[in-house]
Amino acid sequence: MAALDKAGVVAVIGSGAMGSGIAQVAAAAGHTVKLYDTRAEAVQKAIADIAKVYQKLVDKERMTAADAQAATARLQPAGGLADVADAALVVEAIVENLDVKRALFADLEGVVGDSCILATNTSSISVTAIAARLRRPQRLVGMHFFNPVPLMALVEVISGLATDAAVADTVYDTAAAWGKNPVHAKSTPGFIVNRVARPYYAEGLRLLNEQAADAATIDAVMREAGGFRMGPFELMDLIGHDVNYSVTQSVFNAYYNDPRFTPSVIQQELVNAGYLGRKSGRGFYAYGDGATVPAARSEAPQPKPDYVSYSVEPGASGASAVTDAVLARFQERGIAVTQRTASEAHSHAAGTVAEHAPAFHCNGAAVYLTDGRSATQRAADNKHPDTVVFDLALDYGKATRIAIAAADQCSAAAYNAVVGLFQAAGFAVTKLDDVPGLAVMRTVAMLANEAADAVHQGVCSAQGADTAMQKGVNYPRGPLAWADAVGVERIATVLNNLAAAYGEDRYRVSPLLRRKQASGAAFHA
Ligand code: NAI
Repeated sequence: MAALDKAGVVAVIGSGAMGSGIAQVAAAAGHTVKLYDTRAEAVQKAIADIAKVYQKLVDKERMTAADAQAATARLQPAGGLADVADAALVVEAIVENLDVKRALFADLEGVVGDSCILATNTSSISVTAIAARLRRPQRLVGMHFFNPVPLMALVEVISGLATDAAVADTVYDTAAAWGKNPVHAKSTPGFIVNRVARPYYAEGLRLLNEQAADAATIDAVMREAGGFRMGPFELMDLIGHDVNYSVTQSVFNAYYNDPRFTPSVIQQELVNAGYLGRKSGRGFYAYGDGATVPAARSEAPQPKPDYVSYSVEPGASGASAVTDAVLARFQERGIAVTQRTASEAHSHAAGTVAEHAPAFHCNGAAVYLTDGRSATQRAADNKHPDTVVFDLALDYGKATRIAIAAADQCSAAAYNAVVGLFQAAGFAVTKLDDVPGLAVMRTVAMLANEAADAVHQGVCSAQGADTAMQKGVNYPRGPLAWADAVGVERIATVLNNLAAAYGEDRYRVSPLLRRKQASGAAFHA
């Protein structure tokens, strides 16, 4: 298949935020673009705004003046639907309402030629349903751009039940020719991004609900350890709680109340209060004049511990690449790490059932990468009160913060030694209350689990899921590539332990993740 010919006219219906972005991209890619909106003034404003954006690109030397002029000249207002009769592709970006969209496409069928492709930018309505009453439903496809369109690379190309594969391929290739990163998806609730991203908000909200820490502290952990551009609370404030809550509710309802998608009463109360985030001046944070950004909480400085030792040699079987990276950071920062004798190592493992060795010991504390059990549970299972667990980081070599949790049984001396150790290695240390799975690990495990289910159910490929989350919501790593890096085995263990800790079906392991765990295969070869 090939992309739409540059000579092909693109019609954009709806000239709001999304439609004008789509028109900007299509005209810059060489197409004549006809803009239509029931409000003629919206078309005029869109064309004027796009011309200004092109001029700014010229000023920044990212577009030539001649190209900007030509692209601007390719933008044409359509006075009525009849004016888009010669379109090769129509992209609809009107109100998010099934009946209104159906009526529009029915009208369009009476206007455009048989070979014209009809695309909808819907973010939440079934593409199958939008196409259902058309004469030729096989030519309708989802072309889901992300806001702001010129900056966000992802386009989800969504096939409904009737969509012709060749039509989806043409739209895919066309999006690529426009400089976008397209991904194929099957029409299912939330498509890829709005489904797979749910745990990013939901796990944050659950951590807050369980008083793991305050919002600013959890946000800092997700940014400075997890490598996410924004923490969940600042991101929800930006999106708007009304919008975010309604997307969560619609995905929850569409999946017949699957507990994976259960909305949060914390967010419900924000919506009830009208605390919608930035746009209303208040959400999790306050905005506007005089508003201060609350500081993340970090532990007070503790002395460097007397000794650090590991019981499993880095790189040896039983060690993990993740914990090796932490030890490597200690060594880089000049912290002497010694190998424990076999008998010392063994003493903590007494009474252990299928227990992995601690990542390291520090002044008597056994320190583990979280496996989804709370530190308290782990201390009880191992009969070793001085137990501390630490969270996942995107890159332990570069992370500036680390979250840890101590068992309720842990002595202050042992805990403080662990704090001092991470501080000596240059981390700001955040103490979370002893929640199972900590913050980054449980979020990443749930993102990977949801992505695995989407792949399992044929919504998208593993590469498609990862590309979608990186290009649609700027995740620092695709969730499945991340699961591969952490180890599918550990991700499955974390989820199983979360399921045991909470007794909720929410944390059930995706059948595909289980299968990878059993075969030892990675998501990406
Ligand atoms: P918007 O409200 O900024 O623009 C919608 C435009 O459509 C308005 O100018 C309105 O006058 C026009 N319109 C309404 N009914 C029409 C009709 N029957 N015929 C022609 N024009 C009509 O909305 P926005 O944000 O641009 O969203 C548009 C669509 O894109 C929605 O379906 C939305 O779900 C989808 N979308 C929105 C995203 C976002 O972040 N805002 C992201 C991805 C998709």
